[in-house]
Amino acid sequence: MLKEIGYKVWQLKTEFIYRLALKRYAKSLPALSLADRQIVDRLQQEGVYVTSLEKLGFASTPQMVDACSEVLSCTEPERDRSAAKSPLQIYTLSELTDFSLWGNERRLLDIVQNYIGLPIKFQGIQLRREFSHPQQFGAMLWHKDGDDRRSIKVIIYLSDVDREHGPFEYIPKSVTAAAWLRFRIDYQIFRTGFSGLKNEKMEQFVPRSAWKSCVGAAGTVILVDTHSVFHHGSLRTAERSALFFVYTARNPKRPDLCRRYSHHSHPRLNLSRNSQNLKQQ
Ligand SMILES: [Fe+2]
Repeated sequence: MLKEIGYKVWQLKTEFIYRLALKRYAKSLPALSLADRQIVDRLQQEGVYVTSLEKLGFASTPQMVDACSEVLSCTEPERDRSAAKSPLQIYTLSELTDFSLWGNERRLLDIVQNYIGLPIKFQGIQLRREFSHPQQFGAMLWHKDGDDRRSIKVIIYLSDVDREHGPFEYIPKSVTAAAWLRFRIDYQIFRTGFSGLKNEKMEQFVPRSAWKSCVGAAGTVILVDTHSVFHHGSLRTAERSALFFVYTARNPKRPDLCRRYSHHSHPRLNLSRNSQNLKQQ
C-alpha cells in the first residue's frame, strides 16, 4: 500500500515537472512558416498529418531515395523466405548518412520540436519490411506506443500501399476525445498485457467508419504521434516496406523502450559509397 502511494506521488511529481518544462520552453520553440504551423496544428487536433516527399521538398530527399533502392536490394526478398520465418524484418539505418541527413532536416526538426514542445532527441531510423500474414499480431494489433508523453514517428512508404499492403491505420484524436472512451480502450489494452486489440474488439468502441486508413503512393509521408492515437498496421496479403524515423523529448518518459530504435538485435545495413556495395552486419 505504501509502495503504491509512493509511486502515485512520484507520478504526480514527474507530471508536474513535465508541465512546468513545457510552459518554460514554449518561448524558446523555433519559429515556423504558416504551412509548417498548419502541420503542427493538425498533429495537435488529429494526431496525424499525411504529406509526401515531393511536397516536403527537402534538399536531402534525392540522396535518400537513391540510397533506399540500394538498401532494399540488400535485404532478404520474400521469395527466399520460408513460411517459418517472421513476417516482419526490421533493419536499423540510424548510422547511414543518406538517411540521417533527411531525418535531421532543420524544417522537420523544427516541426517535431514545436509539436513535442521540448528539446527533442532523434531516436533512430528503421527499415521495416512486413510480409503477408493471415492474422493480427504485434504492431498489427491496435495499440498506442509508450515511449514518451508525445512522440513523433515519420513513416515513409517505399512502394505504393493499397488495401492489400496493410496500410497504416489510426483513429483520429478527435474521435477518442472523450476521456471515458479512451479509458475504456486503454483498459482493454491493459488487459491484453499491452499487446493490443484485434479489429473485432476495437470496433466495439469505435466503428470502422471512423478508422482512417493511410493508403498512398511510394513517397507518402505520415507524421504521427503514436503515443496519442490508437493505431496499427492493418492486415496485409502483400508486402509493405517503409522507413520509420522516431523522435521523442530529449529525456523521454521511457528511455528503455526507446532503445529498440537503435538496438543491436536488429541487423544494421552498412552502405559503402566507395564500392557501391551493401553489407549486412
Ligand atoms: Fe506503434
